[in-house]
Order: sequence, then C-alpha cells, then structure tokens
Amino acid sequence: MHVKHLSLLNFRNYPKLELDFKAGKVLVLGRNGQGKTNLVEAIAYFDSLSSHRVSSDAPLFLQGNDTAVARLQVTHQNTSPTLELEFRSRQAKKAQINGNPVKLRELTRWFTAVLFAPEDLQIVRGEPSSRRTFLDGAIVTRNPYFAAVYKEYDRVLKQRTALLKSLRGAYKQPGVSETLEFWNQQLIDTGTRIMAERRLLVDQLQPRLEQAYQKLVAADHRPQLSLKESAATGAAQYLPVAENVSRETSPHLTPQSRENLTAEFIAQLRRSERKEFERGMTLVGPHRDDLEISLNALPVKGYASHGESWSVALGLKLAFADLLRDELAPEDPVLILDDVFAELDAARRARLMSSVADYQQVIVTAAVAEDIPTTTEWEIHVIRSGEVLQTGRSSDPAEFFAGVIKNDEMRRKVIQHAVKQDQQSQLPLSQSEDDEEQQVRFEPILGERNAAE
Ligand SMILES: Nc1ncnc2c1ncn2[C@@H]1O[C@H](COP(=O)(O)OP(=O)(O)OP(=O)(O)O)[C@@H](O)[C@H]1O
Ligand SMILES: [Mg+2]
Repeated sequence: MHVKHLSLLNFRNYPKLELDFKAGKVLVLGRNGQGKTNLVEAIAYFDSLSSHRVSSDAPLFLQGNDTAVARLQVTHQNTSPTLELEFRSRQAKKAQINGNPVKLRELTRWFTAVLFAPEDLQIVRGEPSSRRTFLDGAIVTRNPYFAAVYKEYDRVLKQRTALLKSLRGAYKQPGVSETLEFWNQQLIDTGTRIMAERRLLVDQLQPRLEQAYQKLVAADHRPQLSLKESAATGAAQYLPVAENVSRETSPHLTPQSRENLTAEFIAQLRRSERKEFERGMTLVGPHRDDLEISLNALPVKGYASHGESWSVALGLKLAFADLLRDELAPEDPVLILDDVFAELDAARRARLMSSVADYQQVIVTAAVAEDIPTTTEWEIHVIRSGEVLQTGRSSDPAEFFAGVIKNDEMRRKVIQHAVKQDQQSQLPLSQSEDDEEQQVRFEPILGERNAAE
C-alpha cells in the first residue's frame, strides 16, 4: 500500500496542505522546526489512531483553532479510499471513508504504517512502560479488535485497584478476599489474553530482529528479546496457535496452557496479596511486565552504546514491519523514518537503505540533506513553515535542496524589492532618491535570476 495524497486543515503548523505522494522513496526535507514531524505524525495517526508524541489531541490543533482535519488517500489492493479524521476540541473525533461516516477503528483496516521516530529510543532506554506501549501498539496494529481487550483490562484494573485502596488495611478481615475474588478472575481472564498475545508477538519478532539488526550493523551482536512477566514465573507452559490461524475467532492458548498460566497467575496474586492491600495497588499482571532486550547477553539499557541502542530500536521496528509484511501480503505497510539518518554513520545509512529497498513506500524526513544516501531516486518535498516550498525528483537531495533554497532566496529578494519600490513610489520624491544605491545593488540579482530561467 502507499499514501497517495495528504490533506491537512488547521493541523499543527499547517493551516492548509494538499500534497501528492508517489510510491517508492519519498523524502520530506526542511530545516528544524518547519513541520516535517508534524506531517508524518498526521499520516501515522491513521494507523494507530493516536499521536506518537502526545497523548491528547489538543496540541494537534493549529494554535487558536479548535478543530482540525486530516485526510489521507491510500492505495489498498486495487482501491484508493480516502480516509478522513476530524478532530474536535472536547468532543469525540469523527471518521469517514470516502465521505461516509464510519467508526474510528474502521480506518485502520485500510492503512498500516510503521513509524520510526527519535522517541523510539525510549523503547530500549526508557522505562518498562515504553516497551509495553511498543508491544501493545504493535498488537493492536495487527489485530485492531484487540483494542477492546486492552480497554477491558484497564477497566478491570481500575476497579480492582479502587477496591484495594478502599480496603487498605482490611487484609484478613472476613469477606475481603471473596470480594476481591471476582476482580481477580476478571484480571486473569483478560490478563492472560494479553500475555499470550505478547508472547506470540515476541516469538515472531525474535528471528526478524536478529535478521534486521544483522543487516543494519553487519555484525552478530545476538540481540535477544525476553518477556519478564509478573504473573508467571516462566514455568507456565504455553503453546500459541500457529501463525496462520485466525486469532480473531479462535482462542490462541490451548486449554492446557491456559490452565497452567491461570494457575501461575493465581499463585502470584496470592503471594502478593498482603503487599497489594498495604499499598493499595495491583502488583501482578501485564501492566507490570517488561520486555528485556539484550545484546551479547548484556541488557541494552545501561550497557549498549548510543549507536547500538539506536540500531536495536530501529531493528525492532524493522522486524515488526517485516512481520506485518508477511501478514498483509501482497501489501506492505508504509515505512516512515523520521529523522533517522542523522543518527547513523554512513555505512549504517547505506545498509538501512538496502534493508528497506523493496518496500512499496518509504517516507523519510531529514533536516540535513547531506545525510541522505544518494543511491536511489527520491521524490522530494521541501517544507518551510507549514508549507511545501517545492516538490521534485532527484537522487542528489543535497543538490536539490540547495537549488530550492537559492530559488527561494531570489524570489524573496524580488518580492522585497517590489514591496520597497511600491513603498517608495508613495514617498515624497526627495526621500526615494536616497535609495538609489539599493536599486544598483539589486540589479545583478535580477540578472542572475533571468540567467537561471
Ligand atoms: N498546534 C500547533 N500549532 C501551531 N504550530 C505548532 C503546533 N504544534 C507544533 N507547532 C510548531 O511546529 C513546529 C515543529 O514542527 P515539527 O516538529 O514538525 O518540526 P520538524 O520539521 O520535524 O523539526 P526537526 O527537524 O527539529 O525535527 C514548531 O515550530 C512548533 O512550534
Ligand atoms: Mg522532527
């Protein structure tokens, strides 16, 4: 699949944007703070129904506005639907497909993207919650229906925790454990589903991460993923269903493995019951779990270099893109790489390019055109202050960018000059004569422009 067109209205620093995209390699170039990330944030929103930078929609409205619209035309198999999101302050978002109102989740059936952004370094360096967000986001991208399971788990967790808080200090009083029992059951039911889904995902990512990382760094640092689960000691046997079984309709734990996992969950809840009552917190369940990531048997967090950490984070995203590719075949997810080349050395840049060479569409952003490999032809969009300054094709982004900037500077000088002349024509004659020097200085620039044309 690929993005064909993006329209934005009052989104971030874009009052109005209409931009066509072709399949292949797309480069969004512009100096710092011009709107490159804002643009890819809008595109990726259609995949995750959230921003990768902020948890509320308020920062998405162009300053001073309380609505915003993003419209994305994509190719999906033989169709080109137009997906639309209307953001409204303090009200639910609205979604449309080809002008017909639909539920928000419906949008995600038509568009899948994998975004890699500088914030993703947090997956390997940040707190466990960043890794859970990565896993859970990936799970929902694969199975949009699973969002309902997370919602249910959050509801149960809130209720159970509220009950623990209200019974704080009442541990061992008659009837208390029974009251909790109902919520324990609910926590286990939804919790084991999330755990099973995460186990399956991690199993599927592992070989793909090894491959992606090896391709990026050209060395075998043995990247390893392993789940650290608070509700299981690791002894719980599980057998996820085969990858090609519809997980929407069939349970993906065998009855035996579900039983084992449930038994461990119960045992762990029992073990921490006293502590839970003391602290008024639910201490067992997938909301407390972590994904351990190591290189050469050492944790990435605290040990790996900046470049290695960056490569593991990127490798994880590429591994996930590869998994989606298998599931969406013959379609590919759209790969979005925000500001990624600046952090890699020349060799890794070249290897990254060859890793993503055959994706249907790769959208890259960069502030420094010289960072971009010249081994492929790019469709280039130069952005300035929420506007597209110029679009073109080139395999030398630095040269293209320099040309755009030069043209732009000339254009601006011509405009400044015209404004000045206009002002002068309205001044008394004696004052405008003082500015004769300006006129002389400007002449060569006009000459240069004509020569360029
Ligand atoms: N809601 C908003 N309304 C108006 N302007 C906004 C809004 N949100 C962000 N901006 C502006 O958008 C600009 C940042 O855009 P963005 O993050 O896309 O930059 P960028 O081109 O990716 O820069 P960098 O190269 O530094 O990553 C900032 O100037 C910021 O003030
Ligand atoms: Mg940016």
